[in-house]
Amino acid sequence: MWTRACIFDLDGVVVDTAKYHYIAWKRLTDDLDILFTEKDNERLKGVSRMDSLEIILEIGGKQLNISEKMELAAIKNKWYIEYVSRMTPRDILPGTLEFIDVLKKNRIKIALGSASRNTPLILNRIGMNNAFDAVADGNTVSKAKPDPEVFIEAARMVDIETGRCVVFEDALAGIEAALNAGMICIGIGDKNILKDAHMVVKGLYEMDLNKLTALEKRLGYE
Ligand code: G6P
Ligand code: MG
Repeated sequence: MWTRACIFDLDGVVVDTAKYHYIAWKRLTDDLDILFTEKDNERLKGVSRMDSLEIILEIGGKQLNISEKMELAAIKNKWYIEYVSRMTPRDILPGTLEFIDVLKKNRIKIALGSASRNTPLILNRIGMNNAFDAVADGNTVSKAKPDPEVFIEAARMVDIETGRCVVFEDALAGIEAALNAGMICIGIGDKNILKDAHMVVKGLYEMDLNKLTALEKRLGYE
């Protein structure tokens, strides 16, 4: 196997938290009289909390000072935490644990690479705090995707060169980040949207070692 490490995004790959981000932002935008739709929410996937707020304020044509922004981000996060605190291991997306198990049996390192500062809380709620060899998240890195920092840091933590890492991502910004890191990227979601990924599957339940090997071969890594 060419691949030595697999790096997973959290939101939208391991768990479906996009819906909770959406309801929390929606609650805030309703209070602010900003029209915010599920389509707008797509733009926030993979984007950091403060950058998400900036996008929302731009949609609503509102200008606020930094302390007002910090306050709004804190309120949104308080609501978001209320929702994710109710998550359980049943919220792990189908195929995740099975695929991770296969990778581990084949001595491939497993890392997490997420922009979320709530990563430890979520991993704890779904019982996956010991599932990864390394966790790089919004608490350990400062540059948001599409900057490759979070994936490069995850590779460093598992001590594998970036060129032998495969990233699983559901967001456009995340796919760009993986490509910027010089990694193979497998998109999770709709192949018409995630066009830049090297391959797209609907969920980790569609992944297996044969697909990974076939992709390595197609890309000329063997
Ligand atoms: C992930 C999600 C984004 C979210 C970001 C920060 O990348 O896809 O929608 O804004 O994490 O999450 P946080 O939990 O720190 O607010
Ligand atoms: Mg994501």
